[in-house]
Amino acid sequence: MLKYIDVTKRYGDVAAVNGVSLEVEGGRVTALLGPNGSGKSTLMKMAIGVVKPDSGMVEVDGVNPAEDPCEARRLIGYSPEDVVLYESLTPAEVFSFLGEVYEVPGSELERRVRRYVRLFKLGEEMGKLCGELSRGNRRKVSLVSALLHEPRILVLDEPFTGLDPKSARVLKELMRKMAYEGRVVLFSTHILELAEAVAERVVIMHRGRVAAEGEPSELREELKASDLEDVFMRATGLSEELEELVKSLWGE
Ligand SMILES: Nc1ncnc2c1ncn2[C@@H]1O[C@H](COP(=O)(O)OP(=O)(O)OP(=O)(O)O)[C@@H](O)[C@H]1O
Ligand SMILES: [Mg+2]
Repeated sequence: MLKYIDVTKRYGDVAAVNGVSLEVEGGRVTALLGPNGSGKSTLMKMAIGVVKPDSGMVEVDGVNPAEDPCEARRLIGYSPEDVVLYESLTPAEVFSFLGEVYEVPGSELERRVRRYVRLFKLGEEMGKLCGELSRGNRRKVSLVSALLHEPRILVLDEPFTGLDPKSARVLKELMRKMAYEGRVVLFSTHILELAEAVAERVVIMHRGRVAAEGEPSELREELKASDLEDVFMRATGLSEELEELVKSLWGE
C-alpha cells in the first residue's frame, strides 16, 4: 500500500502539498486529478523519495522513502511527467542496464523486454539512440523502464501524454491487469475520460489538498454532478469561474 500521513511540502510560500492523508490500495486503479499546480507531481515524487516532506510521512509497503529511497525505488515503478532518458544509450542498453540495477536474471529480463517491446511496438526503436526517438516512443521507453522490475506499486505521472491510440489502449489494459494482480496503480491525468475509463477510484487535488476522493459514481452522486468533468469543477470550486470565462470569451 502507498500511504500518505498528513504530508506537507512547501516551496517558499507555496504549500505544494498541504496536509494530505491518503491511502492508495492495491487491486484497483486510482486516478489522481487536479488543476495545474495542484500538487499531483509533488505527491508522486514523495513516493520515491526524490522530494521529501517537510512534515508528515509517506509509507511504501511500510518503507519510508525519505529515509530509504533505494528500497522505495525497488518497490515502485515510477514514470515522471517529463521523460528523462540516457540520451546516448539505445533503449536496448537502457533496459539491460536497468535489469542489472534491479537484479532481474538475464533470461527473465529478455522475456520481459521481448514482451514490452511487442506490446508497445518498440522493435524498430531498440537500436536507435534514445536522444533520436520521437516523443511518444520516448514515453514508451520511460514506461517500460518503470515496468521492467514488475513492481508492486506503480506511480505514473501523466503516462498517456504523447501515446498513440493503440499504445494508450495497451497501457490502459496493462494498468488494469496490474491492479487485478493486486498491485497499487496510481496515475495522474488531465484527461477525465481516461480517468473515467480506467480508474475505479479518483482523487481530486486542489491547492495542495485532497478536494474529493471516491469512486466516480459515488462522487457524481455526492456532488450532484452529471459527469466526471462536472465532479472535477464542483470539487475544485471552478464551475462558476469557468462559466464566467466562457461567457466573457463569447461576449468579446
Ligand atoms: N522544484 C520546485 N520548486 C519550486 N516550486 C515548485 C517545485 N516543484 C513544484 N513547485 C510548485 O508546487 C506546486 C505544485 O506543483 P506540482 O508540479 O506538484 O503540480 P501538478 O499538480 O503536478 O501540476 P501539473 O498538472 O501542471 O503537472 C506548484 O505551485 C509549483 O509551482
Ligand atoms: Mg504534474
